[in-house]
Amino acid sequence: MASIELFLKAKFNYFCAMQIGNIDFGNLPLFLAPMEDVTYKSFRYMCKKYGADAMYTEFVSSEALIRDVKKTKQKMTLFDFDRPVAIQIFGHNIDSMVAAAKVAEEFQPDFIDINYGCPMKKIVKKGAGAGMLQDVPKMVEMTRQIVNAVSTPVTAKTRLGWDEGNKIIVDVAERMQDTGIKALAIHGRTRKQLYTGEADWTLIGEVKNNPRMHIPIIGNGDINGPEKAKQFYDQTGVDALMIGRGAIGRPWIFKEVKHYFATGEILPPPTVQEVIQNVKDQLNISAEWKDDQVRAIFEMRRHFAKYFPALPNFRELRIELLRSVSYDDVIRILDQIAETYHDQRVDYTNVSLK
Ligand SMILES: Cc1cc2nc3c(=O)[nH]c(=O)nc-3n(C[C@H](O)[C@H](O)[C@H](O)COP(=O)(O)O)c2cc1C
Repeated sequence: MASIELFLKAKFNYFCAMQIGNIDFGNLPLFLAPMEDVTYKSFRYMCKKYGADAMYTEFVSSEALIRDVKKTKQKMTLFDFDRPVAIQIFGHNIDSMVAAAKVAEEFQPDFIDINYGCPMKKIVKKGAGAGMLQDVPKMVEMTRQIVNAVSTPVTAKTRLGWDEGNKIIVDVAERMQDTGIKALAIHGRTRKQLYTGEADWTLIGEVKNNPRMHIPIIGNGDINGPEKAKQFYDQTGVDALMIGRGAIGRPWIFKEVKHYFATGEILPPPTVQEVIQNVKDQLNISAEWKDDQVRAIFEMRRHFAKYFPALPNFRELRIELLRSVSYDDVIRILDQIAETYHDQRVDYTNVSLK
């Protein structure tokens, strides 16, 4: 890229549409973070409805993928509403990852993302996910081979480094860019931190403002509402913001953030009745896709637990909802919640992401 173009892109990204390959995401797009056991069809549908500009599948294991595991392939099924959407893959073996990327490509994602951020012990001990931050030459080689093996744009998602003494992201980002990836998402924690402490966006800003960087940088970590989103954007100037846990039980966070950026105003939270309608929609999409109401209820439990923050005297209804295993019971309890709290608004003031 010509240096003037690089300079303009780095300095005035807010005025340029963000791109991954040929896909145009508009100005400062909001990405739904990939989350295992969360970013399946029904939840992606809700986030898209409320303005997520890009989404990812749950991560899929390269080893399972090339062994043709049915559940893994189901995870990669994409829908028209999803687009633009990525399939995220992880693994420790370069050949398997290259083969997996080729299989993923058959599902026609708009981009393929490589997971170099997962901190789970069973994954990092094999050297996959954030474990790759301990072997950067292999991370670079794996990425380069994947980029060369597929024609779909490839991106990566990683963390600041392995631990406090090894926050190597500024160097890693440059080396990853040289492999030909089309964007880099950075979660502002080290592997050692897992999800503890606070995300540190300082180094994300350093990567973004490194004059050598020209690929889009997607900032991630601890966005729990519009004000945090704005604070992190102002601090770093990243090309896109990625929201994970903040969207669970609050898929309208994308709309809230966009409204705040556009007007400086905070939208009022939804009423309980509005929340209930969305919960039912999510449950029904899941039940239809799985062709199994009970499995859909199990899938929804993590979301039920987050959809109704700070309702007074809610404990018993909450327990009943979380214990219920029949579709009719769940609908009855949801209707009871709607009737009890109807136009009361949920309150996110003291909601923790943990
Ligand atoms: C339940 C859960 C599952 C996750 N699964 C993945 C995953 O499959 N791939 C990935 O790259 N990150 C995964 N993450 C990390 C998130 O994508 C994100 O980086 C992290 O939660 C920080 O962002 P947040 O503070 O907005 O949640 C997961 C996080 C959570 C909480």
